[in-house]
Amino acid sequence: MKVGIIGCGAIANIIASKIVPEESEIEIKYFFDKDIERAENLASFAGGVAVLNLDDMLNDVDLVLECASPDSVKLLAPKILEKGISMIIMSVGAMMDKAFYTKISKLAKENNAHIHLPSGAIVGLDGINAVADFGLKEITLVTRKSPKSLGKSIDSEEILFEGKASEAVKEFPLNINVAATISLACNRDIDVKIIVDPKVDRNVHEITAKGDFGEFKTITMNHPCAVNPKTSMLAAISAIKLLKTFNETISVGL
Ligand SMILES: NC(=O)c1ccc[n+]([C@@H]2O[C@H](COP(=O)([O-])OP(=O)(O)OC[C@H]3O[C@@H](n4cnc5c(N)ncnc54)[C@H](O)[C@@H]3O)[C@@H](O)[C@H]2O)c1
Repeated sequence: MKVGIIGCGAIANIIASKIVPEESEIEIKYFFDKDIERAENLASFAGGVAVLNLDDMLNDVDLVLECASPDSVKLLAPKILEKGISMIIMSVGAMMDKAFYTKISKLAKENNAHIHLPSGAIVGLDGINAVADFGLKEITLVTRKSPKSLGKSIDSEEILFEGKASEAVKEFPLNINVAATISLACNRDIDVKIIVDPKVDRNVHEITAKGDFGEFKTITMNHPCAVNPKTSMLAAISAIKLLKTFNETISVGL
């Protein structure tokens, strides 16, 4: 499978450094970034090709992996899906815009393409997907981040946001993909609390779900990426796992 990447930052660097084409049948060939130097650096590290225009990769890829920004998804996804090319979208917050969601799911369907949203920086989405239509009554997310990761300098815990995921995504578009992913998985605008906590040095996501099935709670304590502390290592690894599942005959836990 030939893959093109949009956005050559923290996530792309981890993915490119951990995928060995001979072992995985995945070739990450093209690199596109609005900052061409970043695309060139990563392409040269990974033995791929940096492209100046997105069009220069679209005739030769089976899949595009977006790891750039919500704006890039809005701008570029229609063009990619119209060509029948499937996508992995990391900037999941973009999908909280209902009109955009409807537009690109229609485009994907008409052109036989697929849109994949990885589990990203959390665990537990398998369970949330499973119970979404079967008696899920309550679901909440509490996210704790260090002051450093949010560019703040404070000594005591502070609630930065409390409200619905759709609002959190507008206020913190680059920080709250997790809330968007959970909301999309269970098809409701979930309750979210974001806390800046000087006691944590990781990105911590606590999900609680209750319903007819019983109750579950997951806590994910992520190491931030060195390059971009807003982003968790697990987010990049989840995209690698997703890429690998396309070649698997037996899928476990999906
Ligand atoms: N799904 C998840 O759980 C999850 C977790 C972490 C990050 N993310 C999201 O993934 C995306 C990438 O994260 P990152 O940490 O690698 O970011 P980063 O800031 O380290 O890198 C992003 C790169 O994309 C490029 N870029 C931005 N807009 C672009 C555009 N319109 N066209 C081309 N290039 C563009 C930037 O120049 C930069 O090189 C972000 O939107 C982030 O919010 C999702």
